[in-house]
Amino acid sequence: MPVSSPSPAVPHQSLAPGGRGDFLLVACQGGAEAALCAGQQQVLPQLTKGVWRRGVVTFRLPAAAAGQPAFDPPDDFFPDLAFARAVIRSLGQVAGATTAERIEKIIALIGSTNWDNVHVWFRDPRSAARAESETDPVAVRAAILTALRRAGVQTMGDDPIARPGDLILDCVIDEGGRWWIGWHRAATPPSCWPGGLYPGALPADKVSRAWLKLDEALATFAVPLAAGERAVELGAAPGGACQRLLEAGLHVTGIDPALVDARVARHPQFEQWRMRARDVRLKNLRGFDWVVADMNIDPKSTLEALGRVVTAPGSRPRGIIATLKLPEWSRAVALPEWLAQFRAWGYAPQARQLSTGGREVCVAAFKTRASRRPRHATRRSDA
Ligand SMILES: C[S@@+](CC[C@H](N)C(=O)[O-])C[C@H]1O[C@@H](n2cnc3c(N)ncnc32)[C@H](O)[C@@H]1O
Repeated sequence: MPVSSPSPAVPHQSLAPGGRGDFLLVACQGGAEAALCAGQQQVLPQLTKGVWRRGVVTFRLPAAAAGQPAFDPPDDFFPDLAFARAVIRSLGQVAGATTAERIEKIIALIGSTNWDNVHVWFRDPRSAARAESETDPVAVRAAILTALRRAGVQTMGDDPIARPGDLILDCVIDEGGRWWIGWHRAATPPSCWPGGLYPGALPADKVSRAWLKLDEALATFAVPLAAGERAVELGAAPGGACQRLLEAGLHVTGIDPALVDARVARHPQFEQWRMRARDVRLKNLRGFDWVVADMNIDPKSTLEALGRVVTAPGSRPRGIIATLKLPEWSRAVALPEWLAQFRAWGYAPQARQLSTGGREVCVAAFKTRASRRPRHATRRSDA
């Protein structure tokens, strides 16, 4: 496979298999490939779609016009491409019967570049590669690190979680003993996690997986919750997200016709209103600092319910964390319209499909300065 040698310090040039030019490899949730490409057409139309497999789409970078600098893609597409889980520059593929053989080819591919970290992840975590021998990402990573050190290449320590600014060697495990090799520069929180997959786990005492989903959202968007603040969740049962908010020291109101788990319901800083979001009286929607929404209803209905809370008289929440469920993947094309709705309410939205979520998008939106009123004024009008 003809590949160019990357420069010794930072790899600027990368060639896809066959040496056809610079390629980006973008990982997404299996099934989200078309939604990812629709977003790319809106946000980065200068990229051309290349090959794709479940969980990965490659894009060719545009050639530089005469006398013009080459298009330099951002380190990360966060938050512009909501369905991009990880973005790496392709260096090529390696294949071989054993891990040792493939690693030998990686060393030949990367030359003398020094790396701050190595990320090893599955192209599709649900693929058959999981069942193949020699594909445990932890073991593969350890073997790559050992080989790099033996070859005199400097790499950082044992923690696979990178720091912003780190130069990362990526190894994407595919089926049939084939690995895609590339690199990226860590920047945002998800780009510090191998494959953009949230490294947190669900502790046994949490009442639902929504605890982990909110945990990922808080880390992804750096949501500045403060103890003592008030939050309301629309679609609160059985209560994992409320549990996470309570652990952050917030006073939490859960709105849901279904019952919240007793472990959450008995918390002294929690109350439940057993009703649909649209049945809550407007005057009761004042005074919340954060609005969380996770209802299993159409995105349009979720936006209507959110709109009632954030535009209710005297209501000035600092931020919104909303899950917009996608009944079909094709609905994702409406994401720009949905985000425009958050802006119209005076919020700056960012969107991402969380790695712990399903067929849905998480939107975190913070009140913009221009539309923010002094908090004491808000409090007075609540009285
Ligand atoms: C995915 S679950 C929410 C999980 C929850 N956030 C947690 O942390 O465990 C969706 C919930 O939305 C609720 N729901 C659906 N429509 C609703 C509405 N109009 N108002 C309030 N809750 C609603 C359902 O009863 C269901 O409990």
